[in-house]
Amino acid sequence: MFNNRSSLFSSYSLILLLFTLIGVVHAETLTIYSGRSKSLVEPIIKQFEEKSGIQVEVSYGGTTQLAAALLTEGDKSPAALFWAQDAGALGAVSKKAMFEKLPESILTQVPSGFRDAEGFWVATSGRARVLAYAPERVKMEELPDSIFDLTQPMWKGRVGWAPTNASFQAFVTSLRVQVGEEKTAKWLKGMKANGVKKYAKNTPIIEALAAGEIDVGLPNHYYLLRFKSKDAGFPVEQTFFKSSDPGNLVNIAGIGLLKSSKNKEAALKFVEFLLSSKAQQYFTSDVFEYPAIKGVTPHASLLPLSELLQLAPTFNLNDMDDLDGTVKLLRDVEIL
Ligand SMILES: [Fe+2]
Repeated sequence: MFNNRSSLFSSYSLILLLFTLIGVVHAETLTIYSGRSKSLVEPIIKQFEEKSGIQVEVSYGGTTQLAAALLTEGDKSPAALFWAQDAGALGAVSKKAMFEKLPESILTQVPSGFRDAEGFWVATSGRARVLAYAPERVKMEELPDSIFDLTQPMWKGRVGWAPTNASFQAFVTSLRVQVGEEKTAKWLKGMKANGVKKYAKNTPIIEALAAGEIDVGLPNHYYLLRFKSKDAGFPVEQTFFKSSDPGNLVNIAGIGLLKSSKNKEAALKFVEFLLSSKAQQYFTSDVFEYPAIKGVTPHASLLPLSELLQLAPTFNLNDMDDLDGTVKLLRDVEIL
């Protein structure tokens, strides 16, 4: 009898506690659509949850797919924030006027190349396209000034790229924006005619350089750094083309706040947290990306942010939103 009553009492209090918890969790749950991978962002999200007491629910997916989902869902979307690893996807959502303008206090923390000109998104880190090469077979002084030089006879059969990779396609989109369809198509055809070798992803480009299959390649900057962190003598190096060359695209991972968000205060706290020196130090020290804020020291093998931005071509990153056009072009020239 006593036992029964006490268990009745404890189930009652348990239910009460559960309802209270659901209430608290509901009020403080932040939903994020993340095009950044779970392995990369989970540690940083855990830190935010512990520090703020705000619960974060993340929907992971491809950056392009999540942008498409947001455009379909419109103001019914459960997402408060869209964290993308490509400026084009942020541009697509931004152009549909789905983002809320971020406060100046957030925007001014990053250099102008690292935020939307109208303040609808902010970069959380930078990802650069580079020219990787095998120093055993290519001398520094032989390296091309421009990505357009890679169609010359001296590079026949010596270059590798990864045309199905999202970062490569974002680069082609940026090329279309900067030099137009015709010149982009001409370059793509010229590369193909010059025997460019296809790889599935960035990592195999780096491996092919080390194995002597190719002499130069076009990956993102952080892949080689992963190899170098395990083996400092890894026989591949990387550099940039001449200043402002389209080949030096600096793409970003960035975040925007949805206008339809019910939890803007918590969402902005998360954005603030991503720009904190602690989170920024993680992006650069652990995953070798460029920090988005000034006061953080980039990983030793990265350039200072100001130098990187001087090398980068300048154009509106929002205009990298036409991925479909790029895929069509790559099919037209039979690269995909
Ligand atoms: Fe990548």
